Amino acid sequence: MNIRETLIHEVRLAMTAAGIPPELPANVATSTRPEFGDFQANGALAAAKRLKLKPRDLAADIVANLKLEGIADKVEIAGPGFINIHLSADYLATTLSQTNPAQANAPAQVQTVVVDYSSPNLAKEMHVGHLRSTIIGDAIARVLEHLGHTVIRQNHMGDWGTQFGMLIAELEEQLGEGEKPELALGDLEGFYQQSKRHFDADPAFADKARQYVVSLQSGDAHCLALWQQFIDISVEHSEALYRQLNVTLGHEHIRPESAYNDDLAQVLADLQKAELACESEGAQVVFLDELADKKGKPSPVIVQKSDGGYLYATSDLAALRYRSQTLKADRALYFIDARQSLHMKQVFTVARKAGFVHAAMTLEHLPFGTMMGEDGKPFKTRSGGTVKLADLLVEALSRAEQLIEEKNPELDAPTRKEIARKVGIGAVKYADLSKTRTNDYIFNWDAMLSFEGNTAPYLQYAYSRICSVFRKAELERGQVKGNIRITAPQEKTLALSLLSFDEILKTVAEDGYPHTLCNYLYDLASAYMSFYEHCPILRSDIDAETRASRLQISNTTANTLQKGLELLGIETMERM
Ligand code: ARG
Repeated sequence: MNIRETLIHEVRLAMTAAGIPPELPANVATSTRPEFGDFQANGALAAAKRLKLKPRDLAADIVANLKLEGIADKVEIAGPGFINIHLSADYLATTLSQTNPAQANAPAQVQTVVVDYSSPNLAKEMHVGHLRSTIIGDAIARVLEHLGHTVIRQNHMGDWGTQFGMLIAELEEQLGEGEKPELALGDLEGFYQQSKRHFDADPAFADKARQYVVSLQSGDAHCLALWQQFIDISVEHSEALYRQLNVTLGHEHIRPESAYNDDLAQVLADLQKAELACESEGAQVVFLDELADKKGKPSPVIVQKSDGGYLYATSDLAALRYRSQTLKADRALYFIDARQSLHMKQVFTVARKAGFVHAAMTLEHLPFGTMMGEDGKPFKTRSGGTVKLADLLVEALSRAEQLIEEKNPELDAPTRKEIARKVGIGAVKYADLSKTRTNDYIFNWDAMLSFEGNTAPYLQYAYSRICSVFRKAELERGQVKGNIRITAPQEKTLALSLLSFDEILKTVAEDGYPHTLCNYLYDLASAYMSFYEHCPILRSDIDAETRASRLQISNTTANTLQKGLELLGIETMERM
């Protein structure tokens, strides 16, 4: 149990003793201001309303029954009936000595959580538009896993659909001219543009491309073989980016749209049997009253086109059924652009109505906003084209290297490169993760690479700063023994921060907003910096016990910072 959970437990016991029915919560939260204590229990207000009692009287009753000896120094009633709890420094010191915040306790209930993220379309190269899903989804997957849940990553890659007819027709021609597939597809984006130009200019080629879509879908071996060559190279390109981004998506997590092909006819048949899908202008459509527009017109979800082809929604329905029935998910999370909100609502609604998912499973679209350029418009190249993710990362590394060279000119080239890699990639990821997911955000190189403020370099620096304390003391980080003592206010603030890590992670796992963890780490690093300033560690006048205690607090802070950054997919280093 973390501190808040302990307090909830104790306050709830006191509420029972005061005759308050069990369904009324203790409402324990961290206090907004130091004079309100460290935590506030606000449950008396709602309880008094329900029981028609005076809130201050009820709060007094709760406090009279509250057993916080050894935990709190002072408990006060404030305002209309808030209970302010001032924790005892000894309690914090003992708790901190006994806990390793970087290690999570087993959850009360282990959940199976499917996390759908990254999921790029394979026809083109990955571009900056794929960054957010990839790194936000990865951070949440890591947090859930760390807390002990069973996480099943699903990379729902778009590897099917009409574009592939054109692409394989083009590939066939180039291979016919003696080209090797690796070479023809060395520049995927260029290859796509070339095929498109060919398609637009040459009607015979366009006919063939259309024919190939049909052949592909009916399982023609020649077309399938070409398609497979294309897919293999495109997948490899994405995987190289995942490795570079330090993202935990592996080959085994790919379950692309084509994996559901054989199930699509069945999905349609089941929707028809349930009288959900019906014919409309030759297509098969589910009309949803639940999502009707303002005029009451039901929202149409096309599941089969008039030419017999299936759609994005159809494979998503098949995927959802698979996630419920085969993967047995308790939660299905989708990290997809906010612009696909309607699509997600449609798929979720149809899946529920058709009984494709078990009733207790939650279906959660976790949308995100757009990455903008400094001009406040969607991030583009100077000439207005989409920015390739690979190019963005190259620039991140070169900017970081320049920066590290300025800061620390003595480093040898390989060390500098390695630090620059961690700083550059970390900066790009953190800049994104630290913004409220649902908002658009402005991409700014200088801000993300700054060593001041809520940035990756600042946090990485705070970590390496602690490592340097241990180097100076000539100690291994895990070596210090002795009791933690808390005397200075900076020590108390830091201890409270360290002990709330678990709480923060649970919130992030619950609502999927990684900026909560970023803000926490920033506060933690800042709390450490002020501790470091006010509480000397290695100075000669500091007694051995205080020194050991402060070293332990430093070590726990380093572990927590490192773990927190690791959960965001950001690497740390001993020196920078
Ligand atoms: N491939 C889609 C795109 O690039 C995203 C897929 C997201 N996942 C899903 N199950 N629909 O827009």
